[in-house]
Amino acid sequence: MAFISVNNLTAHYILERYGERKTIHAVEDTTFSMNKRDFLAIVGESGCGKSTLAKVLYGAVNSQLVVVNGTVTYQFEGSEYVVSPSKNTVREIWWKKLSYIPQSSLGVLNPLRKVRYIFLDLFRSHGGDYDQQRVVEHLNAVGLSPRVLDMYPFELSGGMRQRVVIALATLMKPQVIIADEPTSALDVVIQNEILQLLKRIQSETASTLVLITHDISLVPALANKLMIMYCGSPVEFGECRAVLSNPLHPYTKFLISSIPRIGDKTMKRSIPGYPPDLSNPPPGCRFHPRCSFSDRLCEEKRPTLTLVEDDHYVACWKCR
Ligand SMILES: Nc1ncnc2c1ncn2[C@@H]1O[C@H](COP(=O)(O)OP(=O)(O)OP(=O)(O)O)[C@@H](O)[C@H]1O
Ligand SMILES: [Mg+2]
Repeated sequence: MAFISVNNLTAHYILERYGERKTIHAVEDTTFSMNKRDFLAIVGESGCGKSTLAKVLYGAVNSQLVVVNGTVTYQFEGSEYVVSPSKNTVREIWWKKLSYIPQSSLGVLNPLRKVRYIFLDLFRSHGGDYDQQRVVEHLNAVGLSPRVLDMYPFELSGGMRQRVVIALATLMKPQVIIADEPTSALDVVIQNEILQLLKRIQSETASTLVLITHDISLVPALANKLMIMYCGSPVEFGECRAVLSNPLHPYTKFLISSIPRIGDKTMKRSIPGYPPDLSNPPPGCRFHPRCSFSDRLCEEKRPTLTLVEDDHYVACWKCR
């Protein structure tokens, strides 16, 4: 069995307001698997469900974000942890084996506590004593001076804050790290440093990393696996080089052709139409209203990821 298996995962936001019920189909019938030490990048336009998938992988489900169907299974040396509609055992391994860097780092850091006490809380939550030497060495490894321990989160720059969150998320040497746009709102130089830092931590600790980004141009230097997500589910998935050098799904082709290249003066074409409303997604292939190749089958039946070549899967009726 794969190290991480996601099977037919469907997760919805269920909102009740003034007696009215609204369902957001944020993750729909998603199946894929990952091996140990994989570095998976998940790319897709805003609102397509990337953060929701990350939250469910981390087991951060609640009364609003509900796993409606399917499972996420982690196989850690002899012990299995599962997120499913009926159980969530991954919560037991948060921080220690499974870590999560959410999209907004500010939300993780208690604004009323100096960084030292945030680390102290982390040790306490694992029943351990605060280990100053270990914290200082770890801060050093992520390029931070121990001075930050005596600062409040609001006194840190965006880049420093992000490094503190990465230090917290990696201190316990988790085997899986889920990082949701860890560099959004940072300038390009810092962005690159933070991503290289994550990559270094991943290879030093032999961990498995899921990185969510909407910048596909960053991916080749970092990841070995790539998932393209559209409207709640992956439309293309596989070995990074295979997906980038031989993109098959029309949506992936658009994304790749939109990467700016130095010296290229041709006008970039944007994808026609608008991203669908996830509270009322289109039937069949969710990309069909924007796809110039779609036909009746695409309008009526939803394609699932299908193997088209070694380690390369596509969800498109026209790519089989
Ligand atoms: N807490 C929430 N309650 C209700 N709906 C939500 C919530 N969070 C996200 N959504 C909705 O779920 C869908 C998927 O959102 P999600 O945040 O997963 O997208 P995303 O791909 O991460 O977008 P972005 O690139 O902008 O971060 C969107 O339609 C969004 O409006
Ligand atoms: Mg997001």
